[in-house]
Amino acid sequence: MLYDEIINIVTLAGEMILQAHEEELTIYDKAGISNFVTKHDKDVQSYLIRNLRIILPEANFLAEEDGIQQELGEGYCFIIDPIDGTTNFIFDYKHSCISVGLAYHGKMQFGCVYNPYTREMYTAIKGEGAKLNGKEIHSSDKGLSENLAAFGCARYQTEDTDRIFDYAKKLYLNSLGIREGGSAALDICRVASGANGVYVELMLQPWDYAAASLIVMEAGGFISTAEGGLISLEQPSSILAAGRTCWKEAMKLLN
Ligand code: IPD
Ligand code: CA
Ligand code: CA
Ligand code: CA
Repeated sequence: MLYDEIINIVTLAGEMILQAHEEELTIYDKAGISNFVTKHDKDVQSYLIRNLRIILPEANFLAEEDGIQQELGEGYCFIIDPIDGTTNFIFDYKHSCISVGLAYHGKMQFGCVYNPYTREMYTAIKGEGAKLNGKEIHSSDKGLSENLAAFGCARYQTEDTDRIFDYAKKLYLNSLGIREGGSAALDICRVASGANGVYVELMLQPWDYAAASLIVMEAGGFISTAEGGLISLEQPSSILAAGRTCWKEAMKLLN
């Protein structure tokens, strides 16, 4: 089965991330403060593309590193973040993941997000619900005052600093506490499992949220832009992912 094969490839790629800590992490700078890529981000991405191509030769690819960022196009497209949480990876935070989504004619069909450190594999198939290591998960149906709230703020998105900390303060004052995990994909998956009531970030790329967007929707949650609009798989977007009650409350609170 195609989706099982994808899960196997992603699980094996997870071993590459664990193994990388035994080696020197060759680190390169990207534009802006604290924006890194390592040899391992590139190696994991090459491994994923090489193997996914074997199981679905007609698929396009949209992936973060090495100028692979092509278009979704018609038919199948894999949307890949080889390591989401590169800074966490560099600092050995043990909180990073591989994110692989599969879209068909521009709509998400399948998503998997894998944290190799905890061996947590979040998956979703369109119309069939979301799972964590094979067990169904559901987003929280409680309000903000009974949930944790997560936000994301990358140091290289300096123009968003005031707005995101304004959001963080509002969420802090209206929830049980705030978290900043350093991996957007895992933060959104934690909305899907009910660990986070809500997650907000102002500038993300499709590979950060494509797979997780299906996982959170299939878990009964909701994902939109920070203003409540539809998210795009073709261009950067702000993200507000939340359980249904939290989403309504966060929309009022933040807009
Ligand atoms: C980053 C992480 C981080 C988020 C950034 C992303 P990367 O992705 O998801 O949590 O705050 O906006 O760019 O670069 O580690 O794949
Ligand atoms: Ca990056
Ligand atoms: Ca990312
Ligand atoms: Ca990445």
